[in-house]
Amino acid sequence: MLRAFNENVLTGLTTIHAKYGDFVRTRLPLQIYFVSDPRAIEEILVKKADAFRKDRVSKLLSRVVGNGLLVNEGESWKRQRRLVQPAFHHQQLQSYAALMVGAIERARAGWHGGETRDVHADMMGVTLDIVAETLFGADVSAAAGDIGHIIGDLMEQFGRVLGLSARFQPPMWVPTPANRRLRKTSRRIDTLIQGIIDARKNSQETRDDLLSLLIRARDEAGGQMTDAQVRDEAVILFLAGHETTALALTYALYLLASHPEAQARLAAELDRVLDGLSPGLGDLDKLPVTEAVVLESMRLYPPAWGIGRQAQAPVEIGGYAFPKGAEFVMSPWVVHRDPRNFQDPDAFKPERWENDLQRRLPRFAYFPFGGGPRVCIGNRFAMMEAKLVLAAAVQRFRFEPTPETEVRLFPSVTLRPRGGVRLRIVERRAAT
Ligand code: HEM
Repeated sequence: MLRAFNENVLTGLTTIHAKYGDFVRTRLPLQIYFVSDPRAIEEILVKKADAFRKDRVSKLLSRVVGNGLLVNEGESWKRQRRLVQPAFHHQQLQSYAALMVGAIERARAGWHGGETRDVHADMMGVTLDIVAETLFGADVSAAAGDIGHIIGDLMEQFGRVLGLSARFQPPMWVPTPANRRLRKTSRRIDTLIQGIIDARKNSQETRDDLLSLLIRARDEAGGQMTDAQVRDEAVILFLAGHETTALALTYALYLLASHPEAQARLAAELDRVLDGLSPGLGDLDKLPVTEAVVLESMRLYPPAWGIGRQAQAPVEIGGYAFPKGAEFVMSPWVVHRDPRNFQDPDAFKPERWENDLQRRLPRFAYFPFGGGPRVCIGNRFAMMEAKLVLAAAVQRFRFEPTPETEVRLFPSVTLRPRGGVRLRIVERRAAT
């Protein structure tokens, strides 16, 4: 089994699932339980969520990026989640639609029919712009772009430390050159964000960006976040909020390029509904094919390919008893390709989502955003963003593979394409 893993973690995971079933324990190098039964996943993420904390990657990450929602635990996580949640309420999200479309339109204006582009780099740029503007507002989005790049750098460094740690794991406080660099980068981010918070607090204007909402948020007792908490949440929203959506979009474009008939159906929907105009909030419910393409792309290439938990107490899952400290990995990659729930599971078929497949599926047969109390706080933000950006891109351009097009998957914390994804773009309609 180790050989399968060393060659390719993802096929290793599907192979052991096919061969050994829904509960598999690995012994080396770490003892981990892989759980692929949707009912058991629901037990871990929802029904018995209190018996679990997040996994060791999350603990390591918190030493680098602070204590924002993604990595926080216990009472402190609960309070912060309550404080941050209103910033993602329906009405609040609606105000971001125009800004999302603005970001893809700016990027698209620089694209030329006939050229071959790295769509991963393009999508990272667009989602970075979007998170920077929604978090900090347009006036500081240039500084915010810097922060985004530094966070990207931080995650690269973290990925390397994580890679090393499989063999040798110096704790974060040991001043190895890699750890020192990580700390320095993380201090730079803190200083930059603190500067923006100070400016916001000193200005008299009322604004609607996420940062202002975090600063203004009050709990039931009237308590508010400290500057350090606001900063940590902002860093986490940056981190969790753009790479994942960029990946969903990148794989969607790649899959569309490889399936011209699916792309033609999508283009026909966009021509019919948008009639040459920019997509907007009011169109979201009228674009079922666009939505199906996003859902199907995240089924085959879930940006968060593994979700980890550690038991805080002895716990029973799926009828088996597990000791305190047991570590679990639930992989959307594996579960989304299970032939018991998806016919012809490796095929890209957006039309399978017609007739409300999402409602007919067993719970947790499809879970790109996780689930339970720690479900992705940005799931509706991300769906809206992915649909609007995809619609604006395919409305104007057709995406085609070239002989050099390939996707080499690199399952880091997220499921990245190593070396990007190169596609040829062909102009479909002149700009209106
Ligand atoms: C396609 C895009 C996205 C995917 C696939 C995704 C996936 C996920 C998943 C699977 C989790 C749960 C992890 C776990 O249970 O261990 C999560 C949590 C989280 N996501 Fe997302 N996400 C996306 C977009 C976003 C966006 C746009 C934002 C913010 C703007 C965001 C912010 C967060 C935060 C803050 C958490 C932690 C929530 C908590 O623990 O309370 N995500 N995301």
